[in-house]
Amino acid sequence: VHSSGGNITGKFGHSYGYGFLHEDINNSGDGGIYAELIQNRAFQHSTEFPVSTAHYFPINGANLSIQFLDEPLSKALPASMRVARTGNSSPSTTGEIGFKNEGYWGMDIRKQKYMGSFWVKGAYNGSFTASLQSDLVYEVFGSVQVHSRAVDDQWTEHEFELVPEKDAPTSNNSFAITFDPKGTKNGSLDFNLISLFPPTYKGRKNGLRIDIAEALADMNPRFLRFPGGNMLEGLTNDTYWDWKDTLGPLKDRPGFQGVWGYQQTHGLGLMEYLEWAEDMNLQIVIGVWAGLALNGDATPKENLQPFIEDALDEIEFIRGPPNSTWGSRRAELGHPEPFELNYVEIGNEDWLAGYPGGWQSYRQYRFRMFFDAITAAYPDIQVIASAATSDPASEGRTTGPNTKEGLSFPSGAIGDYHPYREPDELVYEFDRFDNEIGHIVGEMAATHVNGAIPPRWEGPLYKYPWWIGAVGEAISLIGYERNSDRIPVAFYAPVLKNENRFQWPITLIQFTADPKMTTRAVTWFCWSLFAHHPISHTLPTTSNSSYNPLYWTAGKDQARNGALVWKGAVYNSTDSSPIPVSIEFQGIKPGTKASLTMLTNSVGDPYAYNDPFTGLNIVNTTIIEVIAGMNGTFEFSLPELSVAVLDTDAS
Ligand code: AHR
Repeated sequence: VHSSGGNITGKFGHSYGYGFLHEDINNSGDGGIYAELIQNRAFQHSTEFPVSTAHYFPINGANLSIQFLDEPLSKALPASMRVARTGNSSPSTTGEIGFKNEGYWGMDIRKQKYMGSFWVKGAYNGSFTASLQSDLVYEVFGSVQVHSRAVDDQWTEHEFELVPEKDAPTSNNSFAITFDPKGTKNGSLDFNLISLFPPTYKGRKNGLRIDIAEALADMNPRFLRFPGGNMLEGLTNDTYWDWKDTLGPLKDRPGFQGVWGYQQTHGLGLMEYLEWAEDMNLQIVIGVWAGLALNGDATPKENLQPFIEDALDEIEFIRGPPNSTWGSRRAELGHPEPFELNYVEIGNEDWLAGYPGGWQSYRQYRFRMFFDAITAAYPDIQVIASAATSDPASEGRTTGPNTKEGLSFPSGAIGDYHPYREPDELVYEFDRFDNEIGHIVGEMAATHVNGAIPPRWEGPLYKYPWWIGAVGEAISLIGYERNSDRIPVAFYAPVLKNENRFQWPITLIQFTADPKMTTRAVTWFCWSLFAHHPISHTLPTTSNSSYNPLYWTAGKDQARNGALVWKGAVYNSTDSSPIPVSIEFQGIKPGTKASLTMLTNSVGDPYAYNDPFTGLNIVNTTIIEVIAGMNGTFEFSLPELSVAVLDTDAS
């Protein structure tokens, strides 16, 4: 049996890539990795998600109402919240009125520095009290007085720092702002863009939540694909994720009618994605909008040119010199050095969008128009189609090029494959790319249990990534890695889930407002294991036994002094005893040491998963030293449903 091999992985000289797709689904962005604590901070709204004071609660009988003032905070943020004294407001105690915000289903409060700000319109002589407090008992963990600069005829920003005196025992907390209505003209003030950030990943302003970012970074990823996923496409042609709306001061970001059941803030914008990639040292694959939306809207050929130019502008924004039109905008926003960008994808799953008209146009001219324009301007960029050669798959078919309807790729283009599968199918597809042109695997996951009742997408996904699903994924990943001269990267998707509101239960990491709940799924451990043993070259392999139940690949890593790496997994072994494995690397001398890391399931149940509500990690990690025997052979054995890596770089 041979593995395609001897080739350098990818075309840009990076090691083989494991990564993740990010789009805002499951409140993975707002209320997730984007560290903002205030939910509905700027009363953003859209056709699907009307404006409201949701997530705010009055203090001391105040009346909270939405206003569309003649002089709004900005064009992007036309709505604001009026906080007014009513007959119910008690003049007792301080007499202050105000509001509290419950955050994204609670707030984690610790003795650390929070950075806050809010905008006010209306004259006010006095000060505001900003505080972090419990929702369970009357307890204020920390508060600060913010001297008012508010005036009648314009919006004024107030900034503050707040360091609580103690940690809150739970995340059942909220943030409050109060003021004394006696200091106002007529007992009310208008508020907008109320924002509060805890310390962020690598200290970035408007940055990422530390524990979630660290859980992702700990996986040792190499790639980030963004901004989706369906989020890029939008529900309609008027509401796609427009990168230009996501730049600059927060007051100039209108927000976005998300495609996953909630309004989005645009807080996690293009710059934030790029900084995220920079901070984790990730290659990026950006998706540019191709004129197709989820509802079937398709921008016709004659109207497509502005969107092609938009894509070229976005590329220039990311990697153009600081004296170029869009490069200078990036420089203005604080990043004169160009970011690295090697991969651009045209649309997302456009074989589904607007089907059948949309897909046919993608095939006939849409992809080609973007491909030609980008390749002419940036010949080094790898342009990616948002379909695989097998899309759209004909009825009941999951692999192989569909010659009848499939995309014919212009020379130099590569495809994108999205296997959301049952574990058995992921194992069956082990050789999916053996005789294929280049693809990224832009999204993948085991989502349904074996034998899910068809049509399975009408039924639920499994609850969390589960062990047999993770092993199935590992076998497909091995299949991709052994073809890594053409398959430069595989992305898990979607990656994050807020347990309080989600649309897609299967993700790498689960979380709530309480960092103690942040949980790495079983599949995280398999991806992390493979990602921590990178290869720069595949190696050809021969074996006297065929694949099944053991699947494997081999490579070497130039960056680690040519370390030799073997990755394998066992699935569906009929033998109850472990499978003996004997590996001979050419040139390895007897006595050479290697480390063998093996992942198994500690509870035996193949359907077991890591449940944030129990905190139990069911993945058992065993690391042992293996020493090459007399003929330079490493010998060990692997049990059913195990995933393993042998690496001669034992450091
Ligand atoms: O990852 C979830 C969704 O699955 C993505 O938005 C879409 O691209 C795919 O269909």
